[in-house]
Amino acid sequence: MKRTPFHDRERETDEIMKILDAEPSLITFIYGPINSGKTTMISHLIEELSDEYVVFYINLRTKFLLSYDEFIESLFEMEMETDGASRKRNETLAELVSSVTKVAGIPINKEFLDYVFKDNKPKNAFSYIIQLFEEVRASGKHPVLILDELQKIGDVKVNGFLIYELFNFFIDLTKEKHLAHIFVATSDSLFLEQIYSEAMLSGRCRYLLVDDFDYETTIAFLESYGFSDDEKKLAWHHCGGKPICLVELANAEEKDEKMREFLGVRTGQIEGLIEDAREFGYKISYGEEEIVLNEEHIRRSLDKFKNKDHLKASELSKPVKLGLIKANILFLDPVKQILKPQSQLELLAIREVISDA
Ligand SMILES: Nc1ncnc2c1ncn2[C@@H]1O[C@H](COP(=O)(O)OP(=O)(O)O)[C@@H](O)[C@H]1O
Ligand SMILES: [Mg+2]
Repeated sequence: MKRTPFHDRERETDEIMKILDAEPSLITFIYGPINSGKTTMISHLIEELSDEYVVFYINLRTKFLLSYDEFIESLFEMEMETDGASRKRNETLAELVSSVTKVAGIPINKEFLDYVFKDNKPKNAFSYIIQLFEEVRASGKHPVLILDELQKIGDVKVNGFLIYELFNFFIDLTKEKHLAHIFVATSDSLFLEQIYSEAMLSGRCRYLLVDDFDYETTIAFLESYGFSDDEKKLAWHHCGGKPICLVELANAEEKDEKMREFLGVRTGQIEGLIEDAREFGYKISYGEEEIVLNEEHIRRSLDKFKNKDHLKASELSKPVKLGLIKANILFLDPVKQILKPQSQLELLAIREVISDA
């Protein structure tokens, strides 16, 4: 399997470089629909960054996170125990800082870890991180902390919700201490909407949208894969600028067939959801509440996409909005207050389903 070369993210990358150039003062939320290329852009940026920056990157996507301990374990990277004389243990913070490799978690050794876990207090973990970052600064470099898929800790509690403790800590690192650059990436638009309306974060963060490729970028991408004009048209019609879809298509022998297959799968999933709603009611939990949607609710909402590719967030009632976002059919941009299908394929699938009614 050949590795997909990274394709242009100039505008977004420039914006991040500008942020990195200035003194840290705000938390940056990188958001966008599922599979729009957020993680890929971040990984690429880390590779390209000069070693003036020390990057700590933690992706929570594959982590199992139900408790505070599990979160702490995923944050820190325990130094490898090497036997005997083969390698000297990193005893001090300065040694730990010098051991940092690209795209790794926050380094820690046994002694510091005991301290961090003591009393189950986030305060200990945070004070360790501050000391480590200060050490990075003392070495003449800039610490950058990136947390990918942070919504995964949304439900973890230590006294109150951990996420609030964490945001307070991030505000301390940026706005108060100007010590480190903080980036948080997420595809979860409900999580983001909560953040957006969170008073404690108001004026303390900025939002950077990493959306599917625009038309020009998509066409340039397809050209680099030798698509003919007809194939380009077909690809844009089906995949829009969704990178993952375009990559799959580029690797497919029978592009027509592949696109029909993609569309068939998505259409089937939406039909499945509607069938569930008809037979049992489609249930979603919202805080303590349980909301039940019926077929009519869903169809009536999807109908609005017959002639539009996006809606104002206020055009759907809260329960339907929640249901369709949780089912990964719709994406909510809380900054622009618009709702749109997660992808062009999703939009086409929605239109197939509503035209069958
Ligand atoms: N800039 C890009 N150039 C080439 N391929 C990309 C690019 N961005 C994303 N992709 C492809 O799309 C897939 C999904 O992107 P990813 O970064 O995981 O999305 P997200 O983190 O936004 O959910 C990647 O595995 C990669 O194959
Ligand atoms: Mg990702």
